[in-house]
Amino acid sequence: MSSSLATVAYIGATILFILSLGGLANPETSRRGNLFGMAGMAIAVLATILGPRVTAAGIPWIVGALLLGGSVGLYAARKVQMTQMPELVALMHSLVGLAACLVGFASYIDTSIEFTGAEKSIHEMEIYIGILIGAVTFSGSVIAFGKLSGKIGGKPLLLPARHWLNLIGLLVVIWFGYALLQAPDINAGLMPLTVMTVVALLFGIHMVMAIGGADMPVVVSMLNSYSGWAAAATGFMLANDLLIVTGALVGSSGAILSYIMCRAMNRNFLSVIAGGFGTGEGAAPAAAGSQPAGEVTPVSAVDTAELLGSSKSVIIVPGYGMAVAQAQHTVYEITKFLREKGVNVRFGIHPVAGRMPGHMNVLLAEAKVPYDIVMEMDEINDDFPETDVAMVIGANDIVNPAAEDDPGSPIAGMPVLQVWKAKTSIVMKRSMASGYAGVDNPLFYKENNRMLFGDAKKMLDEVLGALKG
Ligand code: TAP
Repeated sequence: MSSSLATVAYIGATILFILSLGGLANPETSRRGNLFGMAGMAIAVLATILGPRVTAAGIPWIVGALLLGGSVGLYAARKVQMTQMPELVALMHSLVGLAACLVGFASYIDTSIEFTGAEKSIHEMEIYIGILIGAVTFSGSVIAFGKLSGKIGGKPLLLPARHWLNLIGLLVVIWFGYALLQAPDINAGLMPLTVMTVVALLFGIHMVMAIGGADMPVVVSMLNSYSGWAAAATGFMLANDLLIVTGALVGSSGAILSYIMCRAMNRNFLSVIAGGFGTGEGAAPAAAGSQPAGEVTPVSAVDTAELLGSSKSVIIVPGYGMAVAQAQHTVYEITKFLREKGVNVRFGIHPVAGRMPGHMNVLLAEAKVPYDIVMEMDEINDDFPETDVAMVIGANDIVNPAAEDDPGSPIAGMPVLQVWKAKTSIVMKRSMASGYAGVDNPLFYKENNRMLFGDAKKMLDEVLGALKG
């Protein structure tokens, strides 16, 4: 393939990636967005392999790597449960970071292209920054994987003088960047490069370890953004325009998502990155599995069905537990039944419900819930006082009134769905256990609240049976 044909293919792929991002912005067009992305990626990979920069000797290596990587990806995608998706994504981000580091070191020791003068300095800076972003992304994503999968506790690790540690790390990185530029040869340059990599790896670990439970969504989207910048840096190192553009698209869309997440959580972006926000200064750290305080009123599936059946308006608030129980299809059956009986049923979606952005929207779309009854938190929060029943399915932190009432709570300030303002709220969960942020939920003890204990799928099946019976 000639170089101009490869450029045309790259431009085509770029346009497809932009269309893909546009499509993914809305549940109705997301499937098409995914298809655009897949087509763009196929064109990009083919144009690169068949392009002018790959020699015949390299083809077997590339095919081997494609087969290996493709099979691992295929196996993981088939095997992974929907609830493990966020961990898988975090792990994928870590691979982008690792790739940037490896490409960086390979470009540094590669002597096939001679750089001199300013070009040499620019090349070395590209490598240095590429490895820096890559290493932070790698170690940060591995820790995020651990936290999302529950292998590492959700409590923030707050080292004494942690901001100073970060500052010292930054100064060390700047100093060794200077040392790299001054290094007379490759052997001398490897030392500053390695020291910076170690510091960046430690910084990535420290940054994510210091984040409190409820602030994890921001970190997840931030690491998504970092992985884009790491890919863009790899593009600079390999002089591949498409990788630069694609990386920048991922980087900037991830940054916009992080900003949206921060706004939705009422958090300051810089404070979240600095770590321990909402948990450190003044406030008690999240007490995992804290003891329940007060009396709760349990309710049976039959009584729940009766309450729902005699309502005029119902708002369903799904959370992580609905994903765990895979209850979305039964939820839709109940919705359909109630709507046919003339009940106004709508869904209230919190921006950080579940474990990844858009988690609930994906599940509800899969169950074919009509999009026009799926509302964002801001659209529906004022409607709870006029609602007969607010049914909370496997959600906890996102309906916790302590976020509004208790300034000492680790989730203080985070906007929540005000289900307690409905005439009756019903919370469906298996026990009194706390949610991801590890804080007790005063909603459970409110007078107008009922607890329907049990697995969400099982209980909803019983509710549906009782409604139909
Ligand atoms: P959580 O606060 O984690 O609460 C989920 C509840 O579901 C748990 O209390 C659990 O109680 C219940 N549950 C689990 N399995 C269940 C099952 N099979 N049947 C019925 N209930 C079940 O979830 P949420 O309200 O959706 O809030 C999300 C939390 O995750 C927030 O703190 C958010 O910051 C964090 N987070 C979000 C993201 C994104 S991007 N969305 C990413 C990382 C972290 P039982 O054990 O008693 O059943």
